[in-house]
Amino acid sequence: MIRIAILASGSGSNTENIVKYFAKSAEIEVSAIISNKADAYVLERAQYLHVPSYVFGKTEFLETNKVQLLLDELKIDWIILAGFLVLLPVSIVDKYEGRIVNIHPSLLPKYGGKGMYGDRVHKAVVEAHEKESGITIHKIDANYDRGTTVFQAKIKLKPTDTAEKVAQKVHALEYKFFPVVIENLILNRPFEKEVTVEPIDNEQSVRVERKDR
Ligand code: GRF
Repeated sequence: MIRIAILASGSGSNTENIVKYFAKSAEIEVSAIISNKADAYVLERAQYLHVPSYVFGKTEFLETNKVQLLLDELKIDWIILAGFLVLLPVSIVDKYEGRIVNIHPSLLPKYGGKGMYGDRVHKAVVEAHEKESGITIHKIDANYDRGTTVFQAKIKLKPTDTAEKVAQKVHALEYKFFPVVIENLILNRPFEKEVTVEPIDNEQSVRVERKDR
């Protein structure tokens, strides 16, 4: 069994989606959910999903080896960043080189970098009158939103789309593709690196409920 840890700072709807996707997998297991925020809703999700969860403050992440020790103890093979807002220490990035995967809610390199997260990204996209947006899944290096892009999914935007609407479209892409791309990457299966998705009217039907923490 390949063991993954998901790191998340907020709501954790992607985390929940990934946990559910791998629940019956014979090859990949979500073995831990780690957050830097004690009140993040992702920790409540961890409880009802029955995945062990752990909290480390930013200082513990950056100035101690506590997280590294936990990853060692749990024999974690891959790290998935799903809305995780702390830059990982170089020691972890080095040790897990090529095995840390992040998702960003825009078509990087556009709308990435420090401070570009959550709704700020979608507001910037709307303000720039972009005709499309999407998701980028990439392996990380020690900088925010850099590293090797492994997958992008694009979706067309309408001139009337608000930031909320863009967020909704992008989340639908995240739920559809992130678990599958993680699986293909880990199992070293070939997959398409770029797809364009036609907007559908029932994006609201995405099963994972959003919460603003
Ligand atoms: C997602 O939009 C992801 O792309 C970004 O942070 C958000 C996390 O959302 N990196 P959630 O916590 O999974 O609901």
